[in-house]
Order: sequence, then C-alpha cells, then structure tokens
Amino acid sequence: MTSVPARLPVDATTTSAWGSLTELSKNLQPDLRGWFAADPARAQRMSHQAADLHVDLSKNLLDDEVLASLLTLAEEVGLAERRDAMFAGEHINVTEDRAVLHTALRRPSDEPLTVDGQDVTADVADELAKVYAFAEKVRSGEWTGVTGEPVRTIVNIGIGGSDLGPVMAYEALEPYVAAGLECRFVSNIDPTDVAQKTADLDPTTTLFIVASKTFGTLETLTNARLARDWLWRSLVAAGAIEDSEEGRADAVAKHFVAVSTALDKVEAFGIDPENAFGFWDWVGGRYSVDSAIGTSLAVAIGPDAFAEFLGGFHAMDEHFRTTSFESNVPVLMGLLNVWYVNFRDAHTHAVLPYAQQLHRFPAYLQQLTMESNGKSVRWDGTPVTSDTGEVFWGEPGTNGQHAFYQLIHQGTRTIPADFIAVANPAYPLADAVGDGGAVAAGADVHGLFLANFFAQTKALAFGKTADEVRAEGVAEDLVSAKVFSGNRPTTSILAPALTPAVLGQLVALYEHITFVQGVVWGIDSFDQWGVELGKKLALEIAPAVAGDEAALAAQDPSTAALITKYRALRA
Ligand code: F6P
Repeated sequence: MTSVPARLPVDATTTSAWGSLTELSKNLQPDLRGWFAADPARAQRMSHQAADLHVDLSKNLLDDEVLASLLTLAEEVGLAERRDAMFAGEHINVTEDRAVLHTALRRPSDEPLTVDGQDVTADVADELAKVYAFAEKVRSGEWTGVTGEPVRTIVNIGIGGSDLGPVMAYEALEPYVAAGLECRFVSNIDPTDVAQKTADLDPTTTLFIVASKTFGTLETLTNARLARDWLWRSLVAAGAIEDSEEGRADAVAKHFVAVSTALDKVEAFGIDPENAFGFWDWVGGRYSVDSAIGTSLAVAIGPDAFAEFLGGFHAMDEHFRTTSFESNVPVLMGLLNVWYVNFRDAHTHAVLPYAQQLHRFPAYLQQLTMESNGKSVRWDGTPVTSDTGEVFWGEPGTNGQHAFYQLIHQGTRTIPADFIAVANPAYPLADAVGDGGAVAAGADVHGLFLANFFAQTKALAFGKTADEVRAEGVAEDLVSAKVFSGNRPTTSILAPALTPAVLGQLVALYEHITFVQGVVWGIDSFDQWGVELGKKLALEIAPAVAGDEAALAAQDPSTAALITKYRALRA
C-alpha cells in the first residue's frame, strides 16, 4: 500500500474527453449574456457550497457539454483513484518516494491512519500538543527571556513554505492575535530584511522561531545566525547577559526555538531539541502551514483558534474526498483551470481577494500552485503532453482595479480570475457623512467595498456593447475604445467571515485544485527539483563574488562580466 504506485500517468491528451474538449472549444462561442438569458437558473445550477464557502462558477466560459466532458476527463485520468491514494498515504510523490499527507495534519485525532508502519494521526496529535503547550506558555507569560520578561515579539525566520503560509495566515487572522503580541517574519537573505525587522526590537522580549523543513536552507540559516548575533550583541549591550559562552547559550535557550524535520541539525545550531517542534517528510513545505511550521500563528492566535483553522482544512478535505464530482468544488475549479490552460490558451490566473486581510494570499498561492505544477515531465519521467502550470498572480481588490484590471477587462488575453470576499468584515465601519451623492450618510463601507466585487465580476462577464456605448452619447470615433467585450471568466467565492476555519477551508480548496490539475497533467505536484540548480550555482558563485579570481574565471562570459561589474561598483 505504501510503495511507489506502479500505475503510469494516463496521457490526458489521448482520452476521449480530451478529443471532445478540443472540438467543443473550436466551436464554442462564449456568450454569457445569451447563456444567462436562455437559462435564468444558470447561477443557481452552477453555484456550490463547500463547507462555509459559497462558490459561483456560472460566470465561467463553459456550457453543459464542456462541463460533462471535463467530468469525463476526470474519470479517464483516474482522479478519484489518485485522490484516494493521496489520502491513504501511498507514495504518490514518486520522484522523492514519499507519501503526501498534509491532509493527516488536520485529521481528527480519533481517526488513526497507519502509513509506512506508523500511526501518523497519533504522531500529529503528539506534536500538536507540544506546539499548543508552548503557545500557552508564551501567551501566559510563563515563557520568559533572560531577564524574566515575557515575550512580546515573535520573529519567524523561514522562507518559501516556512514563511509564506505563516505570514499569510497571521495577516489574515490579525483580529484574532492576542493583545500585546506581535509576529514579524524574516525571509530574504537580503540583509535589509533582518536589519529592518530587528531594528526597533527589545531583545529581552523577543523570541525567534527558526522554521525550516530541511534546516539546510542558506537564507534561513544565514538569517538565523544574523539574528542570534543581534540577540547576543544587544543583550550584552543592555547588560542582560554576560559576554560569555554560558551567557550566549542561555540567550539561545530562552530566545530561540525551531521547527524542522531535521532535529539533529537544529541541535547542531545550538537549539535544544526540547525547544524544537517536528514534522515529517510527507508534509511538503508549501503544504505545511498547518503543521508545526504554523507555530508562530498558534502562539499569536492561540490553540483554540489554531484548532479551528485545522478544522476548516479538514472540512474542505472531506468535501473533496466525499462529494460527487458534479458538485465537488476543488474538482470543478481544477478542471476549469485545465479547460482554460489547455483549451482556451490562458497563460495566467488572477486571484483577487476583496479582503485586505488576505493581501498575502496571492503570494502564498504562487508557491502552492507554481512550485507544484510548474513541471515539464510527468511522474514517470516522460515529457508532459500538454501545457502545465499557469502563472498565478493577484492583489486585493479594490487596489487592483486601479492598477491592472484594465488588462483583464480589455486586453487581448483570457485571464480567468477568482474573486474572494467575506460578508462580515472584521472592522465594520460606516461613512457617517457620505459624499452627498451615491454614498449615503451612514453607508456601510464594507457594502461599498463589495459593490465593487459584484460590479467587476458583472462587467467582466457581460461587458458593454458598442450600441450601449453609443446610447450614452459617446462620439463615434471613441466608441470602440469604450466597448467591453465581456465573456471574461470569473469565479466568485463568498464566505460568511474570515474566521480561522474559513481561512483553512480556502487554503485547502486551493491545495486540492492544484492536485486536480496535477493529476490531469500526470505530473508530480509534490516535488520541486526546479529550485535546485540555482541554489547550487549560488554556492559555487559566492566565492567569485567575494573575490576568488579562479572561481570568477570559471564563469561564463556574461556572468563573469556581471560579477566583475558588481565588484567594481561595490564600495
Ligand atoms: O527552495 C524551495 C524550497 O525547498 C521550498 O519548497 C520550501 O518551502 C523552501 O525552500 C524552504 O525550505 P525549508 O523549509 O527546508 O527551509
């Protein structure tokens, strides 16, 4: 059950559904105005509930035949079988020969799951209990620094999945953060990052969490050393510790904890394994925010809210695992993405949260989707047979409206876009005065905000014809510039409020969408070999940058010239 599955990827392009979709796409004349006029129930038919998320797919460019063929495609590539293999802990991460079990991180503790001879549910529960106990200690003030002061600031040092998830979730759940606690996140090896984030900190009330799955990442370990150095220097300067080995060891013991799968390396760094939280190689970095990698978040929002966050993930897992494909939201959204990438020539996908607290969500999704599905070979090593991963990008509405929406509305490319909003804001403000016009005195500003959400998805879907422009009295020579073609696809996602559970549901939704696409394309969505070459070269090039002439001479002419220029410019 846990060995490498022998099954080869199905080549989706050879399936009957792929042939049908090719034909359907050739003949499809998107006509959202006409489709809604002919079928007033379209919105209702194409809206689905997944846990707390209401998802309206009706403004997408598909008709019933396309939908039926996409669902057939899912069957023909064996999506259900692959999904079940993932949940069961089979080694579907073939190139690393690993199980893929982020879903076990949020599985109820009374549902055992044995993988590779190990009860992973029990392991997860034990580690979570450790994280929660630590979180309580910090939150209650029981955990103190070298001077006996409680922690006020937590600095998470990590990069990629060891940063993007925690920072995204911390920002999203800011209203749940305990008063008097603050998290900061250092990720970049640009020394500016650590310098800026520590500049105004009191070392006696600061706790660093070094988060790294491998504990071998250059950026994170360099930043951890810089932070440790800063801590020692500033504690000595404040007279809080002796400038001695014992003083420094005491400072690390009380101001540093770690999260990693490599606890031996944590110890080598000087952090007591007692102060380290583990996870497992079956949790991919970009799938790890719900593991101990989320320790900073667990401290900030507390164990109860963190447990709700995990519950949200699990609710979406159950929806994905048990709902028939016709109303299975991750399946439908994943198949739609395949439709756009492979049949409608879409190269990118926008994610546009109408929730300021989700401002890091698109960046988080970039790693999730692009590190997962940016592949050119399938899981058996053969070349892919179609285009794969699209570029994900986005910014919160309404900011994006005043920046790049022009291209989405009137550009030459198809850009499917997901609009995400919550009905109840964390900060419900009213505009007491209004503007004397459209904005009434006492207007609910969140309502105004979401009016933009509804307006944008409407404008993208239905556009504005030349006749409608003319009817506004626009001069004939300006009419074409003011026409909106419409038929620009969007998915609308509405949740009651941005609670920890809803955030978990959203993240799990996109995890599973990514999975669905990967299965259709026959790729291993859980490896990331494409990040390795650059890392290796950086280490080889570093001596040349530092002045080693032999290392410089070993570089290609362009790189050598650039390094030489850098060295000349560097004061
Ligand atoms: O280089 C990419 C990557 O391996 C990501 O997959 C991962 O999230 C990130 O680096 C950080 O890795 P680690 O948690 O091991 O430091």
